Amino acid sequence: MTEVTRPAPTHPGTDSPSFDLAVIGGDGIGPEVIAEGLKVLDAVAGPGVFALTHYDLGAERWLRTGEVLPDSVLAELDACDAILFGAVGAAPGDTTVPSGLLERGLLLKLRFAFDHYVNLRPSRLFPGVSTPLAASVTDGREIDFVVVREGTEGLYCGNGGVVRIGTPAEIATEVSINTAYGVERVVRDAFERATRRRNQLTLVHKHNVLVNAGGLWNRQFQAVAAEYPGVTTDYLHVDAATIFLATDPARFDVIVTDNLFGDILTDLGAAIAGGLGTAASANLNPDSSPSLFEPVHGSAPDIAGSGRANPVAAVLSASLLLDHLGEREAAAAVEAGAVAALPGAAGYSTQALGDRIATAVAGGGSPD
Ligand code: IPM
Ligand code: MN
Repeated sequence: MTEVTRPAPTHPGTDSPSFDLAVIGGDGIGPEVIAEGLKVLDAVAGPGVFALTHYDLGAERWLRTGEVLPDSVLAELDACDAILFGAVGAAPGDTTVPSGLLERGLLLKLRFAFDHYVNLRPSRLFPGVSTPLAASVTDGREIDFVVVREGTEGLYCGNGGVVRIGTPAEIATEVSINTAYGVERVVRDAFERATRRRNQLTLVHKHNVLVNAGGLWNRQFQAVAAEYPGVTTDYLHVDAATIFLATDPARFDVIVTDNLFGDILTDLGAAIAGGLGTAASANLNPDSSPSLFEPVHGSAPDIAGSGRANPVAAVLSASLLLDHLGEREAAAAVEAGAVAALPGAAGYSTQALGDRIATAVAGGGSPD
């Protein structure tokens, strides 16, 4: 057994909720930032509300055992209420782990197995965080939008192949999968979110060139839009969207897009909102299976163990987790604690920043 099981919560005589939380710290800075996320969850929820099971998965496990995600672990994860995930991925240039093996075999496998069709990525410029954009771009207006990235289809399905490999006539294909059902459900989710925000939804695609997939996205978008007359809609080609993200990000409220465009746009979204240190994400299955919450950043092996990783993205991912589990007040408290800790955060170690946030959400105010 490489998994460590902590005791289940005991709430004798109370009706306090309790949740089974699977924790996958993963590689590099993953375990460090997740430890801070858990610290904050504990502080906001109190002891015993989250029953944690830590799973040892990632590069080390693969090097030691050859396992990436055993079926037995997948079955255990299926039974939990949510998954908190750090990061996977070996260091660039590390030839002991084949490139993409862990990304596809662990993270993408979980997204597909649990049908995480909504990959939710908020982009917000928090007070005290500086954007690389010129002041004239934001002009006092907020950067505050969410990208609803489709998480189970598109170019991520591994649909393709290579023939005549290594010859001048080699052929390589990746075929994008777009289903009417898959597009409709994610578009509907985005419209619902828009109604809970500022009622503005932008579809991003590239239908001038990708006529087949783009056509399907357009038709599904228009069909669902008819049900949401209160939501103002807009369409941008993905290349134009990158320009507006850099020159007028305040125009965006909710963006819905496919898997690969969403991957790229959300890194840009993180960059304009001060970087990957604060970018959180949720891989949601709104219907049944456990959802997975992870910082957008990767394993950053270059700073692993140095105490320099920013835990805020992991803490904000924990806030998304609380929100998904219906713990709205706790989610808001964690978000407020993380946001309050951000000005001057660069002067703190990973742990010290986690401590500050935990103290704030536990009601103790700021430790200094
Ligand atoms: C992300 C990552 C992943 C993705 C990789 C690690 C497979 O870049 O979560 O954005 O492309 O989705
Ligand atoms: Mn990415």
